[in-house]
Amino acid sequence: MAGAGFAAVAAGGAALAYLTDAGQNRAGAASTTLTIPELLEGTTSDGTTTFTLEAKTGTSEVLSGVTSTTAGYNQSFLGPTMKWTSGDTVLLNITNSLDADTTVHFHGAHIPPKMDGGPQNAFAAGETWSPTFTVKDEAKTLWYHPHALGTTAEQVTRGLAGMIIVEDDSDASAALPSTYGTDDIPIILQCLAADSSGDVKYDLTGYLSGGLSYPLLCNGTNVDATTLAFTATKSRTRFRLLNASPSDIITVQRGDGGTLTQIATDQGYLTEAAEVESIRLVAGARAEFVMDLSDAVTLQAVVTTGWVRGGSGTYDFLTVTPDASDTPDALPSSLNTITRYDTTDFAARTITLGQSGASMLINGSAGTTMAAMAMISTTLDAEEIWTVTNSTQLEHSFHLHDVPFQLISINGEEPTGVDLGWFDTYEVVGGGTIKIAMQFTDFADDTYMYMLHCHLLQHEDEGMMASLMVTES
Ligand code: C2O
Ligand code: CU
Repeated sequence: MAGAGFAAVAAGGAALAYLTDAGQNRAGAASTTLTIPELLEGTTSDGTTTFTLEAKTGTSEVLSGVTSTTAGYNQSFLGPTMKWTSGDTVLLNITNSLDADTTVHFHGAHIPPKMDGGPQNAFAAGETWSPTFTVKDEAKTLWYHPHALGTTAEQVTRGLAGMIIVEDDSDASAALPSTYGTDDIPIILQCLAADSSGDVKYDLTGYLSGGLSYPLLCNGTNVDATTLAFTATKSRTRFRLLNASPSDIITVQRGDGGTLTQIATDQGYLTEAAEVESIRLVAGARAEFVMDLSDAVTLQAVVTTGWVRGGSGTYDFLTVTPDASDTPDALPSSLNTITRYDTTDFAARTITLGQSGASMLINGSAGTTMAAMAMISTTLDAEEIWTVTNSTQLEHSFHLHDVPFQLISINGEEPTGVDLGWFDTYEVVGGGTIKIAMQFTDFADDTYMYMLHCHLLQHEDEGMMASLMVTES
């Protein structure tokens, strides 16, 4: 199946600024201005907010000066940001205008498995899928992307990804910057691979063949040789980081060696803001930080391989220049209450990430079909502690659908600092082991399953995926 799905774009299409068709055209503006993905307006009636998305192909400049065939939601590359409000009901009407099956997975959302957008929710070209659910998550940064069997790496790498912001009415949310595009800024980082013709490579062969470059994109703009600019009109600015790369690890830091004030991990607020030297994100992970600005600050992304390509690079991707005279209030001393799991009575389970030739395995099975994948069966409200062991020498990014987890140990060490937060995606180094604890609340189904997998998307497509069935009893 790999390779299908993205036929040539109609001839004659001019190279578009990639957000043009979403109404965010900055044509004529300096190309170095940070592009903010459009905020998708929903329509609300009878207590349900409806969003409309279309997965489609287009063209974009992934490499500077080269037109690439790409894909996005409602636009040529990436997708608009959705805001969901905790407690509300949302309905999404998602049309597949690609020429292959797709799904849309709501990464990190605690929703029923039938609405989760995993491989069982695949819908064909020309069809519309309309999941609806109540938003049970508290404030956090999620994202959406395709998840059909065998084509996730291809479709995400082509550009099918977008951010979801969940808002709530907590004291922390009220105290933190939240004006989208003004003082609440999405930062979607992607390290891709492309050949000199602009063909975006998503497969192992592509990554291994010669003559490729590995462009870094920030909100869809190539930052290999360009530092984007953002003018902050408030002294305090919040940044929401998403590593939407197919494989690479991206570490964000300040160019001046200063600290970042991290406020959230994948699954919401830390107990309190933490001063950190850098934020390391494996593929699929998110984090939030704030900066109180008095002078311009340049943010750097350090890209290190998560997969097969060698080398690394440091990119100055964004300079934030303040143009503000307000004085921000002190940050709240407490952002969240996180009760650490006492795992004494938790049921233990072992998850082994393995490899056999070109097949990637979970618990010995290559999950390239629903029938072939290992299935984890549990029951509603079960409390479990999982030992996730990486028996390969490769790096993996372990992701669990449905519920957040706490880290109990990381390669034998107890977690500290921001690792005491909530996660849904976490690094497992070659030969390493993490222990994680979780509780399977709210949703049971004996037909639809959640997934657990490596978020290095090629590994997922090569079989490093298992299913999770949560039943009533
Ligand atoms: Cu972001 Cu199962 O994936
Ligand atoms: Cu992996």
